[in-house]
Amino acid sequence: MTDQATDDDLAHRQRVDALLRQGKNVYQPLYNYPYPQAFAALRPCADRCRAVEASMGGAVAGRRLWDMGCSLGYNTLWFVDRGMTGTGIDIDPRNVALCREISRWTPGEARFKQGELSREMVEAMKPGSHDYGFLFSMLHHVIETRGLAYVQAMMQALTARIPVLYVELALRSEVPPPGYDWARHLPEDELAIFATCEGLSFQLIGRFPTHVGPVTRPIYRVSRGREN
Ligand SMILES: C[S@@+](CC[C@H](N)C(=O)[O-])C[C@H]1O[C@@H](n2cnc3c(N)ncnc32)[C@H](O)[C@@H]1O
Repeated sequence: MTDQATDDDLAHRQRVDALLRQGKNVYQPLYNYPYPQAFAALRPCADRCRAVEASMGGAVAGRRLWDMGCSLGYNTLWFVDRGMTGTGIDIDPRNVALCREISRWTPGEARFKQGELSREMVEAMKPGSHDYGFLFSMLHHVIETRGLAYVQAMMQALTARIPVLYVELALRSEVPPPGYDWARHLPEDELAIFATCEGLSFQLIGRFPTHVGPVTRPIYRVSRGREN
């Protein structure tokens, strides 16, 4: 039994290390992973999770989370560890494979799947199927590839389906790392992605450092009506 457990564990660690080696980068720490992480993360996540959790005012356990662009699953798993059920989605199959590997270290209900954020995906979502949506540092990629008008229409559909969103938004004033070109596609006002939505409340919950440069990124809580 012990030998079997050790073999499984070794194979798991080897798979994790191989996956970490494969990708473009290691954006997040591996949540609850009990072994040394072979490659350091580009940025921490606990700072953002703590601020988001504080803004939820205790409405955490039993809530349903949709985490789009979930990377290595840290933010999803942090909240699953605190009693949410979580669905993490990422375009990168390597990220999804890593999320599935490391989710064994966090009790609770976390599901990870591969997917590309699109208007069709959002429109297919049943209204009320999630309590919170996270879109952290991923919408600038979508603005770059699909344009602002597309993202605005998508945010209209998304805010009609999920009552509270948390968005971390890259800013036009940032200088992207070599090989990236998203900044010049971004609007002057980062909240312009919600310009065609009506009846939303915005609460700035903090500004957070990134690996990209000295500019900190805001996280907003976006909710319908006055339900902050
Ligand atoms: C800069 S990382 C941010 C990761 C995480 N949300 C965070 O802030 O810690 C962007 C993530 O979004 C994913 N991504 C980029 N474009 C996407 C898209 N169109 N649909 C789904 N995921 C996407 C990337 O693979 C990557 O994991």
